[in-house]
Amino acid sequence: MIVGVVAVVAVGFADRNGFAGSATLRPTYFQDVKPILDARCSGCHIQGGIAPFRLNGYLDAYRHRKEIAEAVRARRMPPWHADSRLRRYLHDPRLTNAQIDILVRWAGRRGPRGDAARPGRGLPSVAPRISRIDARIPMEAAYTPQRRGGNDDYRCFVLPWSPDRATHVTGSNVQPGQRRQVHHIILYLVAPGNAGTLDAWQREDSRPGYGCYGGPSATGRQSFGFQFLAGWVPGSFGTDFSPGTGIRVAPGSRLVLQVHYNLQSTPKARPDRSTVQLKLDESVQRRAVYAPLVDAGWVLSPQSFRIPAKQKRIPHSFVADPRGLFRITSGMDFSKGFDIHSLLLHMHRLGKGGEVAIERSSGTKEVLLKIPRWDFNWQREYHLASSAAFSPGDRLSLRCEHSNPTRTTKTWGENSSDEMCIAFLYVSEP
Ligand code: HEC
Repeated sequence: MIVGVVAVVAVGFADRNGFAGSATLRPTYFQDVKPILDARCSGCHIQGGIAPFRLNGYLDAYRHRKEIAEAVRARRMPPWHADSRLRRYLHDPRLTNAQIDILVRWAGRRGPRGDAARPGRGLPSVAPRISRIDARIPMEAAYTPQRRGGNDDYRCFVLPWSPDRATHVTGSNVQPGQRRQVHHIILYLVAPGNAGTLDAWQREDSRPGYGCYGGPSATGRQSFGFQFLAGWVPGSFGTDFSPGTGIRVAPGSRLVLQVHYNLQSTPKARPDRSTVQLKLDESVQRRAVYAPLVDAGWVLSPQSFRIPAKQKRIPHSFVADPRGLFRITSGMDFSKGFDIHSLLLHMHRLGKGGEVAIERSSGTKEVLLKIPRWDFNWQREYHLASSAAFSPGDRLSLRCEHSNPTRTTKTWGENSSDEMCIAFLYVSEP
């Protein structure tokens, strides 16, 4: 009797969900699990992707079912480090509780396959994308990263592109040539006045590019002003900038690609030729810029930013009206305020957590980005679902926490043995 009832219930359920009437209970791979893995995991867990194993076929998913359940239950995967309870973001790939439940129950039932002929409906993609490519700029020559004592090689390349009249970058996509050995890439915009210096650094080095860290200046050389233009970290897809906004590029400017190569998981270094794709528009409604939010005191006197040896959770914070700093770094006038569209926080390996907020003239605080658990390997730009307006009288705050397990006190600096606390905000005219 009981058996009969179960069978009837199972058949009714199967009919409504378009699932062939085998004895398998949902969730199954083809009906329930595959749509989630395809939309939220396979972008990285694919042949040649950045993740250590594939998740784009039944057998691979089946083999890794317990780890999948564990990683999604702990919300380690898909990688996302912003606290989304405080603010909504675009392109948020996190799974819903119902989706996590499906993966966990499927793994618990030993990963039934289901019916491949009746696949479940796909989920909409959350990945951003660049909608048009107007310039495709590969590195001038391929570069084979070098191991010098460690696995890291930081290298800058001046790209063979310079507009002969002013234009605006309105979207970007950076594509690493060798995903397995590229850790992250930053694209900098350098004003025409410094083009000669860049060319000289490049000429002095017999191999393509020149050594650099933390900015486009050659290691150990006088640094100059530059602007952040785009970045790539594992899992980046490239994106259009906020509608109607763009970054002005003056004629004669240079683009510098800074590539952090890491050879840890590559036995033999291969030549890399990374590429930048740009969406360009002659005019935009509102000019924008990636503006750095940082305490100038830390940069000018590195000793003022101290993380003593063997100490945990050392905070550094800074609150200011950044419009003066933004004007110096971008040349733009923000006297009427600005809109914040996206932001990214940057620390080095000793970072633990951080936050960027607006402190309103009314006394309230509005968090723009909070990263409760910093992970150096997963730095990314977070796009606000709705932009935040900064008005005269408001202030911005930046707060970082670092823990220093080493025996040496760390101070501010651009080398990997130094530390930092800086945010880049994509801001436009109001
Ligand atoms: C943005 C790229 C990316 C996406 C998207 C992604 N992963 Fe991963 N995943 C990685 C990388 C890289 C690693 C190895 C390094 C690490 O663990 O951080 C990894 C490791 C893992 C591991 C083993 C380590 C652990 O933390 O348990 C599992 C299991 C995993 N991913 C499952 C998933 C699942 C399931 C999804 C989708 C819900 C997913 N991943 C989405 C990049 C990604």
